[in-house]
Amino acid sequence: MACSAERPVTSTSRAFEGSLGTPPPKAAAPKLARYAMVVSAHPEASKIGTQILQRGGNAYDAAVAVQFALAVVLPAAGNIGGGGFLLYRDRNGSAGSLDFRETAPSGASRDMYLNEKGEPVTALSTAGALAVGTPGTVAGMVTLHRQLGKLSWPALLQPAVALATKGFALTTKEAAGLNHAKADFAKYNTHGAPAYLRPGGGEWQPGDTLRLPELARTLTRIRDQGRAGFYKGETARLLLAEMKRSGGLISQADLDAYRAKWREPLRGRYRDYDVITMAPPSSGGVALLQMLQMLEPVDLAQTGYHTPLAVHYITEAERRAYADRATYLGDPDFGLVPTHKLLDVDYNKQRAGSMRSRGRASASADVTAGANLPGYESDQTTHFSIIDALGNAVSCTTTLNGAYGSKVVVPGAGFLLNNEMDDFSAKAGSPNSYGLTGGAANAIAPGKRMLSSMTPTILTRNGRVALVTGTPGGSTIITSVLQSILGIVDYGFNAQQVVTAPRLHHQWLPDMLFVEAGALLPAAQDTLRARGYHPQPELPWGRLDIIHVLPDGTLEGGADPRGDDTAAGY
Ligand code: DON
Repeated sequence: MACSAERPVTSTSRAFEGSLGTPPPKAAAPKLARYAMVVSAHPEASKIGTQILQRGGNAYDAAVAVQFALAVVLPAAGNIGGGGFLLYRDRNGSAGSLDFRETAPSGASRDMYLNEKGEPVTALSTAGALAVGTPGTVAGMVTLHRQLGKLSWPALLQPAVALATKGFALTTKEAAGLNHAKADFAKYNTHGAPAYLRPGGGEWQPGDTLRLPELARTLTRIRDQGRAGFYKGETARLLLAEMKRSGGLISQADLDAYRAKWREPLRGRYRDYDVITMAPPSSGGVALLQMLQMLEPVDLAQTGYHTPLAVHYITEAERRAYADRATYLGDPDFGLVPTHKLLDVDYNKQRAGSMRSRGRASASADVTAGANLPGYESDQTTHFSIIDALGNAVSCTTTLNGAYGSKVVVPGAGFLLNNEMDDFSAKAGSPNSYGLTGGAANAIAPGKRMLSSMTPTILTRNGRVALVTGTPGGSTIITSVLQSILGIVDYGFNAQQVVTAPRLHHQWLPDMLFVEAGALLPAAQDTLRARGYHPQPELPWGRLDIIHVLPDGTLEGGADPRGDDTAAGY
């Protein structure tokens, strides 16, 4: 079935299109497990999560242990100084989501990153103390554990404490990442050298041991005091001292006021699957469900994998969803976000109806946000997927925003602070570091959550979990999650093929089709160019970590080869 906006494709043109498709991705064999699985960005974290599951912990316990382990072994993104979203679907079929996104400190204001000419000063929102939002991760983990955990809190923190104390071997990628950030660590940490700078100077080598004694002490306080171990007492004192020293805005009142929030997940349907995903203040779920609605009438399997016509349908859906994102999405606690209208079937049918025929590109300049919706009044991240032996599933994405966040390490407390404030729209229409634009809906206000693209998502089929998916990647998160769903549902790839497959991305503005090496045949790129697209080669992005449940219940893990990601299970 062709999209309603398209004229039927003739058999001759279909054969031509088909010859331009990309062959199915070549990938290593997926990890298989019978009972339970953890897929995360680091082998140590996946191992710790699996051990928790084997000791009788549930998926929520494992999520807490994995999150704190990642805060140690994945300094670029794993964190206690950032925030995130966790989506779950329990074995009885109920679902929920936890929002532990950072908030703007009470001293923040709409124009705080603009200079005297009214132009955004990007350096201020992307690095250093002023870029830091009030962290949410520890509150999120405490809230999750209190409501759904089974094992004791200290038992879940202890593996991370041990890792930070004893140290761990740096992987090639992490050593390179730390070396790359070396100058920034020096620049933004003048009050003593953080442990992320190699003692004695020089470059980190793969296999070097990274010990984090200050972080170990902070994690010990969190282990012993829970929330108060981070938001009060010694850790808070050290954090506030750094804010004072470096011109940051977070106050004790901000720390006291911070709360993780349970939110009703968004739900949609795509072919035979029910889709459960994250609501605002993430834009991910809304945009994902819009794109799936626009793609539902298209027979993608028949149209072929990465053929120009398939790329056309997918790109046009992305262009429209991202245009709406820029206009309408923001923190729902600070203004009206028209989520229901954006997910209305007729609305998305009408949006898809403006796709040009014969696979030709629309111009982003002509695709503005869908008209007449009620107005708004007023790339480092990490993802893990977990399924436990009872069938509870967790999809969790957390972030410091950029690699190593603001690059500020709290002296004496040893943890990195986020630069999440850059996810706000510093000025209407001015792009942030992911090229995303926004307006009033995502303007800075005290206590407000900045709009996110993080898209933890779970698919069920016939009432059983079928796919747990998610990824980092800034603005590309939503389209990578979309491609993981299309890979499983439309193209029949296995989990490892899905995460390995070279990806494509379009985000409305800039009007470019970003292409990972190998995603499109050269002839397909030529055809797309002739049809008005602007393919643009780009370095690899995203780290999809997914679990696909096979019809017989076997868990099939896909761990993204772009990172150190690992699937473990039993
Ligand atoms: O919340 C967001 O959308 C961004 N702060 C995520 C950043 C990210 O994924 C960077 N990772 N590569």
